[in-house]
Amino acid sequence: MPNIAVVGAQWGDEGKGKIVDLLCERFDVVARFQGGPNAGHTVAFDGKTYALHHVPSGVFRPDTRIVIGNGTVLDLTKLLEELDGLAEAGIDLAGRLYISDRAHVILPILKMLDALEESSAKAGDKIGTTLRGIGPTYQAKAARWGLRVGDFADPEHLEERIDRILSGPAGGRLAQAGQEMPTAAQLARDGHGQWKRLEQYVTDTAMRLNDWIDEGGSVLFEGAQGTLLDLDHGSYPFVTSSTTVAGGLCAGLGVAPTRVTGALGVFKAYGTRVGAGPMPSELIDDAAGDLIRERGHEYGTTTGRPRRCGWFDGVAARYANRINRFDAACITLLDVLDAFEEIRICTGYRLDGKPFEGFPASVSRAERLEPVYETHKGWNRDTTGVRKWEDLPAEAHAYLARLEEVIGTEVAMVGVGPDRVQSILRPGSWITRNVPDLI
Ligand code: GDP
Ligand code: IMO
Ligand code: MG
Repeated sequence: MPNIAVVGAQWGDEGKGKIVDLLCERFDVVARFQGGPNAGHTVAFDGKTYALHHVPSGVFRPDTRIVIGNGTVLDLTKLLEELDGLAEAGIDLAGRLYISDRAHVILPILKMLDALEESSAKAGDKIGTTLRGIGPTYQAKAARWGLRVGDFADPEHLEERIDRILSGPAGGRLAQAGQEMPTAAQLARDGHGQWKRLEQYVTDTAMRLNDWIDEGGSVLFEGAQGTLLDLDHGSYPFVTSSTTVAGGLCAGLGVAPTRVTGALGVFKAYGTRVGAGPMPSELIDDAAGDLIRERGHEYGTTTGRPRRCGWFDGVAARYANRINRFDAACITLLDVLDAFEEIRICTGYRLDGKPFEGFPASVSRAERLEPVYETHKGWNRDTTGVRKWEDLPAEAHAYLARLEEVIGTEVAMVGVGPDRVQSILRPGSWITRNVPDLI
């Protein structure tokens, strides 16, 4: 059975939620392996739009099991709000939501630290994080004083652990900045109360997943963020604090690489980025960039911030394909380009006047990159009603064919609108061959 990763191939918000929602009809399980409430995954169908933060995008298919894996970080207050919202929308989670007992918890003081670090950083050093406490929680995990979901079962042990955190460097940093902190007793009481509400879902998810795969079940692995935000491979230090690339799923879920049968990269038909950091093909104060933002409603799902917009960055895309070795690409938001006479693709970089291969490790070099563009004729036609690959305009086919060349993998699916039905599967492609009977 197929066990396939769906990961973001740019700077996040590529439309992963929509692709996972569509594909998971043919899978038994959808599992998130990293990130937390910094993610905002949108799923739209039957005239309704949902934004998911912790919960995997398979939640709208009643027969699909959903797993929040050990590699994620969880804000228990926000997670419970999200579950309550889904319950109000009539989504039944009983018996099909599985939360790892090893996932790390975003303590309220870790969220406070995220805000403090961002507000006290000098202008050029601000990451522009989502302020959800992601960085400090992964720091606590790596420093080995973080708290995991399973630690919330025993209130006395929990209070002791929190007390040590409050009197350690994290508490010290907040106290030094004059921030008023909750007491260990209060944090432990609240946290244990939240754990009691979540207890029915908490389990050893690695054991469950491996058992299901042994029984012939199929799993869709849902990535959050994107390859250029990866802690190692992204535009460091302007990245998130987890491993967002396909390889991250193995550690983030306890599933061996030998069990993964494929990887799909989700790319927008152009580029966006939210937060600070290099984006070589960004269109700054530019009419085309503004048109992309307005047509694509490019405002953050989690924070509402306007996204930085630019042309498709073929060099970054090729780089992402090298790290993830995609079997195929899904190109979303193609319809946003319907209104353009001309469309550009960045096919190369120049650094200090010379051609530059790959994506530089140093941020100062990445910020100096100059994009080299080629120009394509737009199709200037509404594609939002197109449902078949062969009905796409000839210029759109030519654009997609060029994207395939620059990325280095086949385009197997195209998005022409936010709704579940506005996805075009390419006949005979890797997806149709590996995920049978999809539509
Ligand atoms: P994710 O974080 O990768 O799941 O992506 P987001 O949900 O943050 O952002 C993608 C946005 O584009 C959402 O508003 C989606 O509803 C929307 N979207 C996804 N696919 C398409 C598409 O093919 N066309 C259009 N117009 N919108 C899309
Ligand atoms: P989805 O899953 C886009 C960005 C933030 C910031 C950087 C670090 O919806 O694609 P963090 O709060 O993670 O420490 O912020 O990463 N970022 C995202 N950008 N989509 C996301 O998630 C993101 N999650 C984090 O804007 O630049
Ligand atoms: Mg998003």
